[in-house]
Amino acid sequence: MDVTFIILGATGDLNKRKLIPAIYNLIESGRVKKIAFVGLSRSKVTIEKILAGAHECMGKVDRKAWNTLKKSSYYIPFDLYEEDNYDQLKDFLEKIEQKHALSGNRIFYLATLPQHFDTVTKNLAEKKLTKTKGYARVVYEKPFGHDLKSAKKINQCINRVFSEDQVYRIDHYLGKELVGNIALMRFTNRILEPQWNAEHLESVQIIMEEKLLVGSRGKFYDSNGVLNDVVQNHALQLLALTAMEPPKLLTGNYIRDAKAEVLKHIKIDSVFLGQYEGYLQEEGVEKNSTTETFATLKLSLDNPRWSGVPFFIKAGKGLDKNEVSIHLKFKPVECLLSEACPADTNYLTMNIQPKAGFEIELNTKVPFKKNIVKPVIMSFSHENYFPKSPEAYENLLWDVMNGDQSVFVRNDEIEAAWKLIGSIKHNKVYQYPIGSKGPKELISWNKKHGINWRV
Ligand code: BG6
Repeated sequence: MDVTFIILGATGDLNKRKLIPAIYNLIESGRVKKIAFVGLSRSKVTIEKILAGAHECMGKVDRKAWNTLKKSSYYIPFDLYEEDNYDQLKDFLEKIEQKHALSGNRIFYLATLPQHFDTVTKNLAEKKLTKTKGYARVVYEKPFGHDLKSAKKINQCINRVFSEDQVYRIDHYLGKELVGNIALMRFTNRILEPQWNAEHLESVQIIMEEKLLVGSRGKFYDSNGVLNDVVQNHALQLLALTAMEPPKLLTGNYIRDAKAEVLKHIKIDSVFLGQYEGYLQEEGVEKNSTTETFATLKLSLDNPRWSGVPFFIKAGKGLDKNEVSIHLKFKPVECLLSEACPADTNYLTMNIQPKAGFEIELNTKVPFKKNIVKPVIMSFSHENYFPKSPEAYENLLWDVMNGDQSVFVRNDEIEAAWKLIGSIKHNKVYQYPIGSKGPKELISWNKKHGINWRV
C-alpha cells in the first residue's frame, strides 16, 4: 500500500511527538512500503530539523526504516491563506508522486487550529488537490470547533465539498488499544453482554485524571476548560462506546450510528466544577478566569437498557494521579450469608491507561471463615499478553489508509456532543490544591448523588 501524507501544521508538537513516529512505525513494521511525507507550515525550517525533532522524541530507531522515511520527506513553507500556495502544492505532489512511483493516494492531515479548517477545506477542494488518481482523504485533528455553532459551520463547509467517507475527524482516544477493546470485549463475551443493562448494573464511572497542569497551553486552555478539552470528546466517546446498543456489525457506520444515538439522547443531571490553585498564574490565563480544570458530571440515558443507571464522569488536571478508566458497578445480590453480607458489589473495570487491562472484582471466601467473603480482583494485563502494541496514532493513520472510519467521529456525533456540553449552565468553580483529589466540596456532591469514586 502506498500513500502521500501531507501534514498541515508540520512544525507543531503533534507532528513531532505523534505523527512522524506513527508514520515511521508503519514503515518499520512493513505495513507501508512506499511513501512520501510532505510537511507544510508558515515557518522557515528544514525537513531535516523537523525529522530531528521527532527523532529526539523517539529514541532508538531502525536505521533502514528511518532512512526510507528521510528519503521520502519534504518540507514546504506554506501560507494557508495564500491561494497560489495550493497550486504550487498540487504541482509538487504530482512531481513527487511520479518520482517515488506512488499511485496518487493522498492523506491531508489538518493539524492546525480549527479556525483554519474552513479555508483549508475549501482550497483543497477548489484547487483540486483532492482530485487524484488514487484516493484523497482529509483528517481533522481536534479540537473540532469550540461549541455547537462553530462545529456546525465547519461541518457545513466540509460537507459542501467532500463526501463524508473522505472525512476523518480524529479523537485520538479511539485509537488506543484498550478503547478499541471496549466493544470487542463486550460483544464477544457471553458472560458480559447479557449483564450490560439496568437489570444488573447500578452505575457507570468514567474517570480521566491527569497530574499534568496546563503548561504552555494556557491561552488555549483558558478559553476551553476541561469540559471542552477532554469531556466533549474523549470522555463522551468512552461513554458512548460503553452505553451504545449492539450495532448490527462492529464496523464503520454501524458503530457510529450506535454511538450517535447515545450522544443525542444522554442528559446531564448535575455538574460540579473546580480549578487548581495557581491556575490564574499560568501563562496565557486571564487574571480572573473562572475556567474549570476539573469537572464531575452525572448523566442519564432514559432507554430500556439504562433507565435508572447513572453515568458519572470525572476529569481534571493537577490531580494526584494519571489514570483513565471505566468502571461498571453491579447491583448487589440478595444476601444469603449468615454472618456478614458482602461489603461491596462486583465491579468490571476497563483500564485504558497507564496500566492497560481489565479487572473484575468478585467476592470470595475468606480462609478459616465459613460464611465471610472478601472482594478480590481478577485482572488481565494487556502488556503481559501483548508486549508490543501500536500507539494510538499508528492505529489511526493505518485506518485512514485503509478507509476504515469506525474509530473516527462522524459529524452528527460531534454536534450532539457539543450540544450536550453547551447545555451546561454556569456553575460555581471550587479551588483545589495541585496533586489532590479535587475540591473538598466534592465530598458533599458525591454524597448527594450516591457516588463513591473508584479512583
Ligand atoms: C488532549 C487534551 O486531547 O488529550 C490534553 O487536549 C490532554 O489536555 C490529552 O492532556 C490527554 O491525552 P492522553 O493520550 O495523554 O491521555
